[in-house]
Amino acid sequence: MASAIFPAGLLDALRQAGRVVFLTGSGVSAESGVPTFRDALTGLWARFRPEELATPEAFQRDPQLVWDWYRERRRQVAAVLPNPAHYAIAALEARLPETLLVTQNVDGLHRRAGSADAVEFHGNLFSNRCRACDHVAPQPDPELAAPPPCPLCGALMGPGVVWFGEAIPALALERAWRAAGEADIILAIGTSGLVTPAAALPDVARQGGALVVEVNLHPTPLSAQADFVMTGPAALTLPALAAAL
Ligand code: APR
Repeated sequence: MASAIFPAGLLDALRQAGRVVFLTGSGVSAESGVPTFRDALTGLWARFRPEELATPEAFQRDPQLVWDWYRERRRQVAAVLPNPAHYAIAALEARLPETLLVTQNVDGLHRRAGSADAVEFHGNLFSNRCRACDHVAPQPDPELAAPPPCPLCGALMGPGVVWFGEAIPALALERAWRAAGEADIILAIGTSGLVTPAAALPDVARQGGALVVEVNLHPTPLSAQADFVMTGPAALTLPALAAAL
């Protein structure tokens, strides 16, 4: 049964799918009120460009300034809740035989909504990483006022997110690439498809024979390769999809 929201054939394709990959971007957290990466540069931070704060060089140059920006983002994210889109994805993961969720978001909201095994391509705001020895540690307290020393090597630890010029964690890349290549369906949800290597995952899936679904408010560079396009807010379209499956 097709509905106004679902392209004809999508429900049947999902019901028949053995392996499903979800690729999410900041649009899936929009209804939680999480400012997108570029929105986070407002108010006091408006005078900076992301490239001036979210880079290893910026942290070397002024660790406290970079830490203060991320503390502000941790506070913002700690104060919001997962939205129906996050919960719908967790429900679909529980319902479908084999899934992998790959997110570009660092807000941790998928985990808070029950997607315990989310592959966090760009890391997580609530962790710290030492750029000297690569030690990673949880950072649950958004109020920590200064970069902590690495317990292993003593260097200052920065936020556990992937900065411009840094590599995607190898395990995340390997899991995502393999799952995409073996997928029957990939759903690209709330992502502009502009930032690689995440933006290449739908193409990897399509080349492996998968159907591509795009869930977005607007067309993106991924739309041209999508077999199905669900236009609308993910917080509305995904719960409807989960309920209809
Ligand atoms: N429902 C569905 N899609 C939405 C919604 C919504 N409610 N709100 C916004 N969108 C879509 C926008 O149309 C846009 O295509 O989400 C996408 C957000 O795009 P970006 O802000 O570019 O976010 P993203 O694709 O996650 O960026 C990838 O780039 O900024 C860096 O490292 C950062 O992880 C980020 C990466």
